[in-house]
Amino acid sequence: MNKNLSRLKKFEPEKESLLEESLKGFNKPQKRLPSKLFYDQRGSALFDEICELDEYYLTRTEISIMTENIEDMCSMLGKNCLLIELGSGSSRKIRLLLTGLDDPAGYVPIDISEEHLINSVNALAKDYPSLRIFPVYADYTQQFKLPNFEFMHSKKAVYYPGSTIGNFEPEYASKFLNRIANRLGKGGGLLIGIDLKKDESILEDAYNDKKGVTAEFNLNILRRLNRELGTDFNIEDWKHKAFYNSTEGRIEMHLQSLRDQDVQVNGSRITFAKNETILTEYSYKYNVEDFKDLMSDAYNLEKVWTDKENRFGILYFTVI
Ligand code: AVI
Repeated sequence: MNKNLSRLKKFEPEKESLLEESLKGFNKPQKRLPSKLFYDQRGSALFDEICELDEYYLTRTEISIMTENIEDMCSMLGKNCLLIELGSGSSRKIRLLLTGLDDPAGYVPIDISEEHLINSVNALAKDYPSLRIFPVYADYTQQFKLPNFEFMHSKKAVYYPGSTIGNFEPEYASKFLNRIANRLGKGGGLLIGIDLKKDESILEDAYNDKKGVTAEFNLNILRRLNRELGTDFNIEDWKHKAFYNSTEGRIEMHLQSLRDQDVQVNGSRITFAKNETILTEYSYKYNVEDFKDLMSDAYNLEKVWTDKENRFGILYFTVI
């Protein structure tokens, strides 16, 4: 056991049950299911596959921006920084930072998947034996406490890659980032990845890949409900639908009913008309200026890194 790897801190997420959450969503005028339901074991594996697809430029582009600018990013984060990662799935990206940082004070990965977290910190502890790691199992959108850091660090910085912020509606995203600023305190840093607005066909292709992996990822929610709630969705009767809503600046993912049907959910029957959809995800796309506006006055934008084609942006903010 590596002495620098702390025991896992656990903040059991307050969950409405899957049933309550699903029923609530099915009772809305636009039926919906929360996108966090994508990420069961199969869904997480499908998401990893999505990240490798030709059409899904996001992951590849973000990694290449980081690789090219890692020295600059690490110098902005500075010596002795305590790095906190929200949703610490992306070990390739974090490794670039952990390797490049000057004497990092520690690394705090926060993740909602306990198993995923344990596996990734064990691997990191092996490869970075002198790095202090403080894993936290929590839903980072809910209340949780950071470990007490008695040791010296120059600043706390949050790393939030992957354009995950885009899966929140802007009003919520803004409040959430403001809460982070309060927790970081003056001088804290935020390194965040956002997917940029671009040609609609590039965006739509990224969510409608030819191999059908994204379709499978979307439909997997229904398989999950059948397995975990005993619903009787017939997968053949549903179709993946993803499109860019240019008024709202977001990709929308839906599951579309191919016929009039009703589905049993815990004894009640939910009716779906032919072509009616269940909304499963929003993925907002931003311009750097839009995103800056969304950030509260608590932050100052210090630096923006993008790729040649301006597809993806990594922004560094400090808390003022
Ligand atoms: C996790 N998130 C940033 C992905 C996205 O692009 O919004 C989830 C995803 N949905 C379909 N493909 C990928």
